[in-house]
Amino acid sequence: MKNIETALVHGGRAGTRTYGYVNPKLVRGSTVLYPSMEAKHEVARHGLEQVDIYGLYGTETHFALERVVAEIEGGTNCQVVGSGLAALTVPLLSYLRAGDHLLVPDSVYGPTRTFCDGILRRYGVATDYYDPMITEPAIRAMLRPNTRVLFTESPGSHTFEVQDIPMLARVGHAAGVKIFMDNTWGILNFQPFKHGVDVSIQALTKYVGGHSDIILGAVTVNTAEDWAWLRNGAKELGAYASPDDCWLALRGARTLHVRLQAQAQAGLRVAQWFKAQPEVARVLHPALPGCPGHEFYLRDFTGACGLFGIVFQPEFSAHSVVTMIDALKLFGIGASWGGYESLVLPTTGTIRRSAGTGVYEGEMARFHIGLENTDDLIADLQQGLATLRAN
Ligand SMILES: Cc1ncc(COP(=O)(O)O)c(C=O)c1O
Repeated sequence: MKNIETALVHGGRAGTRTYGYVNPKLVRGSTVLYPSMEAKHEVARHGLEQVDIYGLYGTETHFALERVVAEIEGGTNCQVVGSGLAALTVPLLSYLRAGDHLLVPDSVYGPTRTFCDGILRRYGVATDYYDPMITEPAIRAMLRPNTRVLFTESPGSHTFEVQDIPMLARVGHAAGVKIFMDNTWGILNFQPFKHGVDVSIQALTKYVGGHSDIILGAVTVNTAEDWAWLRNGAKELGAYASPDDCWLALRGARTLHVRLQAQAQAGLRVAQWFKAQPEVARVLHPALPGCPGHEFYLRDFTGACGLFGIVFQPEFSAHSVVTMIDALKLFGIGASWGGYESLVLPTTGTIRRSAGTGVYEGEMARFHIGLENTDDLIADLQQGLATLRAN
């Protein structure tokens, strides 16, 4: 593979020595026309791989983005779909069947849990939730003869536990179980297939889009066998992504590396600043000691992003935290992350419902650090903490 910065700049393009515009075309379309029936049969003989057959199965805009994502994730093939959530549900629905058992970390992104407890349960798939910091003997003990997928998300949504993915993959593979991973936080900094993952999921809505203006997801695999069931499943389900959003994601990908690095650096600085504040009991940032699984971050990741959590001292109420959040001027109150702007959300009780209820004593908040000046952000947080103390 090329170095990641080069892959981001050159990926999905026709090449630097061809006549034409720098960027791949934005192709919108449903119907593809053929000059003759023989030409149509000839195209059909190629299968569905990077060929214009029908808009639902991808245009050159989709294929260009899929090549870039496959390359940065280190896999062979990628399927883009209409949202990060669809990138989670499409492979689960495509791979699992009635009677199967699924293992999911208790720190999983909320809508993934809702899907497992809703549609998957109704279709006869049973889910058990495990502690994201589970030991090797304990996860082995949770496997059943019908376990088909061991799902992972590292770090976990809101509680930021970094999982021991190579250990989970070893245990899962020994039992013939596929390892799925939501790798959105680890974009560019965690190479899923090198660590034993079979199916890697990205919400491109976040850093790849990077400008809070698209909703998009991607599923990447690394074998022909995994590509066959994924591609067929996506086709059967009618999974689709807007070419306009794919084009914007490609545009975002060109600057992903520098944005991510700058936001990771600023995020770490703000997280370290929080660590020194008496109002804060704990900072949940994978790159800092004290975050569960920090040792796995040091071993397996090459960097961070700008998303982390904090736990307030138990003396501060949910009301005080809300008044602090309301007092912030530079932090938007909103879901999602990975855009150029800073965000904050209270996160107490939004996750960790089974295996780890009550993991932290104090109120929690999640911060996303954007591309603003970091001193300005810290000054804003300083006055926010003064409001917290006063309430
Ligand atoms: C970890 C994680 N995975 C997946 C998603 C889903 O992405 P989307 O909003 O594009 O459906 C999100 C969204 O917040 C997320 O935080």
